[in-house]
Amino acid sequence: MIPLSIPHLAGNEWTYVKECLDTGWVSTAGAYVSRFEEDIAAFTRSKYAISCMNGTAGLHTAMNLLGIGRGDYVLAPNLTFVATLNAISYTKADPLLIDVDPASWQLDLKLLERWLAEHTSITDTVCTLREDGRRIAAIMPVHVLGNLCDMDRLQQLSEAYHIPIIEDSTEALGSTFKGQHAGTFGVFGTSSFNGNKIITTGGGGMVFTQDEHLATRAKHLTTTAKTDPLDYFHDEVGYNYRLVNVLAAIGVAQLEQLPDLIRRKKHMDAYYREQLGGVGDISFQRITPGVDPNCWLFTFRTGRMRELLTYLNDRGIQSRPFWTPMHDLPMYERLRYVTEANNARAVHATAISIPSSSGLTDDQLAEVVGHVRAFYS
Ligand SMILES: Cc1ncc(COP(=O)(O)O)c(C=O)c1O
Repeated sequence: MIPLSIPHLAGNEWTYVKECLDTGWVSTAGAYVSRFEEDIAAFTRSKYAISCMNGTAGLHTAMNLLGIGRGDYVLAPNLTFVATLNAISYTKADPLLIDVDPASWQLDLKLLERWLAEHTSITDTVCTLREDGRRIAAIMPVHVLGNLCDMDRLQQLSEAYHIPIIEDSTEALGSTFKGQHAGTFGVFGTSSFNGNKIITTGGGGMVFTQDEHLATRAKHLTTTAKTDPLDYFHDEVGYNYRLVNVLAAIGVAQLEQLPDLIRRKKHMDAYYREQLGGVGDISFQRITPGVDPNCWLFTFRTGRMRELLTYLNDRGIQSRPFWTPMHDLPMYERLRYVTEANNARAVHATAISIPSSSGLTDDQLAEVVGHVRAFYS
């Protein structure tokens, strides 16, 4: 089988993990945690990076630190992985869904801008929904598949409407918009190091912020809010959201390889686009002008998605459909949803992800292409 997206552990992972095991520093303390944070902050040119146990925990921490809670709305795209909405729900705030652009699959900014103008008010630097007066506490762009929306425009809207940005940049490590790294535009950004991501620690996450006070608060809140190195004194309800040293050691080794992994992903992306362009009714994700994507997982649209999915999986080419839109999930079907044509549903009905693991050989890529072409011939 040619797998969809598996880890590529070809660097110093073994050496660094062995060091953790040999020295006994496997758990919540240890030098690799801060080294991973420093290395990733340097790579992304983020002032601060705070590690945590997964991307979802990172998103939840960002919500908590912005004081988001019951009675608030948080704007989020309808097309995302469920963790984005779950993180909002943990705080008791209500997600308010915005449709996506049918070509880039990111937040539809034109739709958002119109909706903000028609349906919200600003009083004392707080944006509220006119209909019920409730606060719109944050907006969460999701950088779907390592692409981004026009971040200049989103930042203008964020400033004009006083709605802070929390980036779900979990899929976009290494992607940039006009040279600036994903995750560093918002009040907070996040990374995930889940097994299928561009680098992995098995499970893990990172919170990015450019604000010293928020960085200190993020560390505090994710490490049980303990205030004294000796005494068990905690000054608020904290979380045990730490990334452990043995996993951070894997992260340090993975990060060393990230530039090579991105190069490999870009090669794959260019190859697939060249080989599959014009085949059947295949169409590709439009990359937003100004974005240099990490090309994490190759995904395209076709009207015959379900048929092709079965065809490829039956032939050992592991392929996946895209996320079910949030508004089509039972716990989120009653949410407010700003849409004109429900593009999220149309993308879901037609999008298919094909093998994109960094370790795939050129022969394997050619085999994938051969099967896709054969399907349409
Ligand atoms: C868009 C998106 N948001 C959030 C997450 C959650 O990250 P994690 O699985 O590390 O909790 C993921 C990845 O799994 C994701 O793809």
